[in-house]
Amino acid sequence: RTLRTVADARGADAEAAVSSAVAAQDAWADTPPRQRGEILRRAWELMTERADDLALLMTLEMGKSLTESRAEVTYAAEFFRWFSEEAVRIDGRYARNPAGGGGRALVTRQAVGPCLLITPWNFPLAMGTRKIGPAVAAGCTMIVKPPQLTPLSMLNLAAILAEAGLPDGVLTVLPSTSASRVVGPVLADRRVRKLSFTGSTEVGRTLVEQCAPNLQRMSMELGGNAAFLVFDDADLDVAVRGAVTAKMRNNGESCVAANRFLVHRSVADEFTERLTEEMAALRMGHGTEEGVAVGPLVNAGQRDTVSELVNDARKRGARVSTGGENGPGDGYFYHPTVLADVPHDARILHEEVFGPVAPVTTFDDEADAVARANDTEFGLVGYVFTTGFSRALRVGEALRTGMVGVNTGLVSNPAAPFGGVKASGFGREGGHEGIDEYLDTKYLALSL
Ligand code: SIN
Repeated sequence: RTLRTVADARGADAEAAVSSAVAAQDAWADTPPRQRGEILRRAWELMTERADDLALLMTLEMGKSLTESRAEVTYAAEFFRWFSEEAVRIDGRYARNPAGGGGRALVTRQAVGPCLLITPWNFPLAMGTRKIGPAVAAGCTMIVKPPQLTPLSMLNLAAILAEAGLPDGVLTVLPSTSASRVVGPVLADRRVRKLSFTGSTEVGRTLVEQCAPNLQRMSMELGGNAAFLVFDDADLDVAVRGAVTAKMRNNGESCVAANRFLVHRSVADEFTERLTEEMAALRMGHGTEEGVAVGPLVNAGQRDTVSELVNDARKRGARVSTGGENGPGDGYFYHPTVLADVPHDARILHEEVFGPVAPVTTFDDEADAVARANDTEFGLVGYVFTTGFSRALRVGEALRTGMVGVNTGLVSNPAAPFGGVKASGFGREGGHEGIDEYLDTKYLALSL
C-alpha cells in the first residue's frame, strides 16, 4: 500500500542543499544560543503534543509496534529537550601560561560548519534528533539524508522544526533512492565540514574514505555484537527482564540489541527456560494493533538474514527452545526465538542478527566470560548481570565497549554519551559529549 509519494533527490538537489547550508551558516552560528535552545525546546513541545501521530506514522512506515514507536517518539523528543539545555552551556577557558609573564590562553568553541547527517531506518526519528539536536545547539547548518525505507518520519520532523522557528536553509532533507547520488556530491564539497553517520560498519568504512580528501570531521555509530553476561550470582528475575528488553526492544532491530547471551553454566538451564517462557508469550502482530509487542521486520531481506543465521546455528547443533521460524500471514514476521547450546562457531555469535533471536551459550568463569565477550571486532555495548558490586565494576571496566549496562538491558539515554569503540565506530551522541562533535576548539594566544 502506498502511504505517500516522496521526492527522489539527485546530484543537483544535493549541490543546491550544500549552497543553502553554506549561505545560512554564518548567520545561524551567530544566533544567540538561547534562541537556538528555544527552537529545540519548542520542537520538543510539538513532538510531545503530536506523539500519537508521529508514532503511528513510524509504525506504518517501518512496521514496529505502536508501543515501540511511542517509546521512540519520547526518546527522540528528549534529545531536543536535552540539547535545548546544552545550547546555553557552550563554554571555554582562560588560563595563565605556565611560564608566567603576560602569556594567556583563551580557549573557545565554534560551530564546525555545515554538516551531513545520515540516519538509519531502525529508529527513523531518534537517530535524527540525536544528530540534529546538538547541531542546532552548536549552530551548525545541516543536510539530512534519511533512509530510503523510512523517509516520512524525517520529513515530518523537518516540518516540526520549521514550525518551531528553524530558519530557512538551516536544515534540508534529501530523501533519495540512491544514497551515493546525494552523499557523493555533498562530501565532495569541502565547504561541508562534518559527517555524522549511523548505519553499518561496512558502509561506515566507505564513508570514512569519502571524507578523507576533504578531511571532514566524522562521527560514526556503526554495528554491534553485544554480549549479555549472566553470572551465577545474578538475580535471575532481573536478568530475564533485562534480556527481554536488550533483545526485543525495536524487534531486535537495533545496534545495541543483545546478540550473544553468555550465561554461567550453573544457571544456564534455568535462565534459558525462563527467557523462553517470556519470549514465547510476546504477542506478535501488525504494528498498528494495540497490545502487539512484536511487529514485522522491516523487509524480506532482513527476515531472510535472520532466518539464515538461525538455520546455520541449528545445523551446527543449536537447539531451538522457542520460535525459529517465520510468523504467519502477510508481513515479514519472525517468531521471537531462543536458541540453546549454540556452538562457538555459529555465525549468529559473530554477525549482527538484527532480529528477535536470542542465542544462549555458556561459560565457566569470569575470565572466560570476559575473553569471549571481547572476542569480536565490534565494541558498542555489553551487558553484565551480577549482584556482586566488585564484579560489576571489574567486568564493566574489562569489556572493550563504549557502553555497559549493569543489571539493566537499556543503556540508551539522551543524557548519556552513546557510542562505540573498535569497528563500532567513534564519536559520541547525547550527554554533555554529544555537542562536542559539532564544535571546533579554538585557542587564542594572548600577550598582555
Ligand atoms: C541504534 O540501534 O542504532 C541505536 C539504538 C539506540 O539509540 O538505543
